[in-house]
Amino acid sequence: MRLDKFLSEQNIGTRKQIKEYVKNGRCAVNGIPASKADMHIDENSDEIAFDGIVLSYSKYHYYLLNKPVGVVSATRDGRNETVLDLLSGENVKGLSPCGRLDIDTEGLLLITDDGDLIHRLLSPKKHVDKVYEVHIRQALLPADIEKLEKGVNIGDKKDDGSIDYTLPAKVELCDDKDEEGYPVIFLTIHEGRFHQVKRMLEAVGNEVMFLRRISMGSLELGDDLPVGDYRPLTEEEINELKK
Ligand code: URA
Repeated sequence: MRLDKFLSEQNIGTRKQIKEYVKNGRCAVNGIPASKADMHIDENSDEIAFDGIVLSYSKYHYYLLNKPVGVVSATRDGRNETVLDLLSGENVKGLSPCGRLDIDTEGLLLITDDGDLIHRLLSPKKHVDKVYEVHIRQALLPADIEKLEKGVNIGDKKDDGSIDYTLPAKVELCDDKDEEGYPVIFLTIHEGRFHQVKRMLEAVGNEVMFLRRISMGSLELGDDLPVGDYRPLTEEEINELKK
C-alpha cells in the first residue's frame, strides 16, 4: 500500500499533512527517511516509523470509551452529543459503537470499525456477558434475586405469543450503598434487549436509579479511565475479544 495511506489510517494526519511530514524527514521506512509520501510499502513486513516511533499496522481501530450520561450511543444525532463526538482527534470515519447504552447510562462502550467483531459480540446466539453496576431504589429481597437469576417477564413475547423470559442472570449484592444512600448490585446478563436492566428491575418491583456498564465479554472498564475519556484497546484486549 502507499505510505501516505498507511500513515493516514494510523491517524498520523491528512494526506496533505503527511506529504509535509515526509518532506521534513519525520517518516522512515526500514530505518531510512522516506523519499516520497506516495511510495509503496509492504504494511506486513516493512518497519514504518513516525518521529522515531515504530507503528504497527492495523486495518481496524478499537477504542474503549467511558461513556458519560447525556451522550447518545449513535454516530449522528440532531440534538445530542454523540459518542463519536467524544473521540476528538481521531479519524472517526467508519467507526460505530458496539451496541447501545441509554443516554442516562454511563460506562464501557467499545467503538470500532471492525464490523465483524461488532456482529459477533452482539449476536444473540453468542450470549456475551455484560456486567452492570446498578444503583437501585430499594434493597432486593431474596425472592427478587431468585427471580432475576432464573429469568423474568419483561413484557417480551416469542413468535408463538408465549412469554419470552430473560435468560438466567447473576446478581451480586454490594455491601456499601452509594453516596445517595441507594443500594448497589452487580448484575451480569447475557443478552442485550432494549432497556433490559431497567425492565428487569421493574419486573421485580424495583427501579434503576443509576446504571454503569463495567464489562463486556473479556473487556473491562477498570478504574483509571475517567468518565468521558477513551483509550485505544491493547493488542491483548483485541485478541481476547476476538476469541
Ligand atoms: N440496560 C438498560 O436498561 N440500559 C442500558 O443502557 C443498558 C442495559
